[in-house]
Amino acid sequence: MLEKIIIAIDGYSSTGKSTVARQLAKELGYIYVDTGAMYRSVTLYAMQHGYISQEHFDQDALIQNLPNINIRFEVSTVTGLAEVVLNDVNVERSVRTLDVSRLVSVVASVSEVRKKLVEQQQLMGKEKGIVMDGRDIGTVVFPDAALKLFMTATAKDRAERRYKELVDRGEEVTYEDVLKNVVNRDHIDSTRKDSPLRKAAGAVTIDNSNLTLEEQFQQILALTKTAIQNNSTSSCTG
Ligand code: DC
Repeated sequence: MLEKIIIAIDGYSSTGKSTVARQLAKELGYIYVDTGAMYRSVTLYAMQHGYISQEHFDQDALIQNLPNINIRFEVSTVTGLAEVVLNDVNVERSVRTLDVSRLVSVVASVSEVRKKLVEQQQLMGKEKGIVMDGRDIGTVVFPDAALKLFMTATAKDRAERRYKELVDRGEEVTYEDVLKNVVNRDHIDSTRKDSPLRKAAGAVTIDNSNLTLEEQFQQILALTKTAIQNNSTSSCTG
């Protein structure tokens, strides 16, 4: 029997990390964890409690209240997919709005927030058999993951995808605002002091600007099979 591994997927915003992570988890019977949803949930909590808005950010109040923030995932009986739950309320839809997207990178730059979420993520991966996506999974959360991917695509391609997603969900947004948000978030995520977005050592870059979803999936599945095989061989001999 082949041993289960950890698959770490990082990359810029809206590169389709969660789509491929979900596909992989389903194919392998692994658990999928969307760490972006966790940072989005902390942001939603901060917005709901008036700690953050476009105009101000009371970082100390958020840090003090971190113990009151409980985030977990539950599998929806309707979609069969893991959905994020904040203090016992399913917030899967409300964390995906452009309002949350506009503030999440600022909240994700707070070291105390990162520390709390990283600890929880590492516990989730204890049993392996996990596909986790985010910005620091291969660099910080699981630097020893058996497979690390770094996803990228042009900002234009990514903004088009995200714009379509938001419009399909009924949000009133403009393409220009979505593009601005994608570019701005990439900038904050890759220049912040604590755990900036970087390609991890040993990660494989997947540029999906010109790949169909199926092509991308097949490419990543092949990498995954090799990683699982290599991991089992090294744990037999090592
Ligand atoms: O993947 P996403 O777009 O839902 O992530 C939302 C934000 O959360 C992203 O702009 C940066 C932050 N994030 C992070 O800092 N570290 C992670 N592991 C995941 C997300």
